[in-house]
Amino acid sequence: MNAVRNLVILTGAGISAESGLATFRGPGGLWEGHRVEDVCTPEALAADPELVHRFYDARREALASVTPNAAHRALARLDTTWTGDLLIVTQNVDDLHERAGARRMLHMHGELLSALCAACGARVPWSGSLPPGAHCDACGAAALRPDIVFFGEMPYAMERIEQAVASADLFVSIGTSGAVYPAAGFVQLARHYGAETLELNLERSAGSDWFEETRLGPASALVPAWVDEMLG
Ligand code: APR
Repeated sequence: MNAVRNLVILTGAGISAESGLATFRGPGGLWEGHRVEDVCTPEALAADPELVHRFYDARREALASVTPNAAHRALARLDTTWTGDLLIVTQNVDDLHERAGARRMLHMHGELLSALCAACGARVPWSGSLPPGAHCDACGAAALRPDIVFFGEMPYAMERIEQAVASADLFVSIGTSGAVYPAAGFVQLARHYGAETLELNLERSAGSDWFEETRLGPASALVPAWVDEMLG
């Protein structure tokens, strides 16, 4: 590998699987008989807000009984030690990267521990259940919804992410199936701008062919080993 200074790391549900949080597309990736895509759309929220809010209440509740695993901890160690630019872009809505101690990170698909006002756009920290019609402190509207980027909505921080990917020397994807855009396209962008690309995943993904190197195995083993290599 050439000298690497600027790193972008993309994470997906696979990095939290060994903490006990279900992935979306693997076994157990269904919820009450729905595909995640069927409950994670603006249309679903409008048609059946109770169902969608309950779905996220259950996922928020599940956070209380899980802890970061060795992969989250290794990335946090890299974050606090790496002297070059580094950005961890997670598609996950859990808070396990932060709990492990990562700071240079962002949630492109939103966060379970946040509520979004559909009327004024305010984002407020949230814990516990979030019933439909909760009031926004900023504008007073009864319009708080889960702060989750639904299918068909624009992910957060795209400009910042694209800038970071464009100036990365190395782009690493961890525990994501490469099925959902725009995140699935970051590897192509990274290559376009000359970055090296590495995938760490349990199995080959829809995007594997785009990566120069793919290492297969559980994140809890692959990520600490890769971080050791990086910190050499
Ligand atoms: N270690 C590494 N990889 C794993 C592990 C593990 N222990 N367990 C599962 N994986 C891999 C799977 O093989 C799969 O390729 O993680 C990937 C998880 O894929 P998805 O369930 O599709 O999750 P993700 O890619 O994060 O989904 C993207 O889809 O529904 C939306 O918004 C949601 O952010 C999510 C997006």
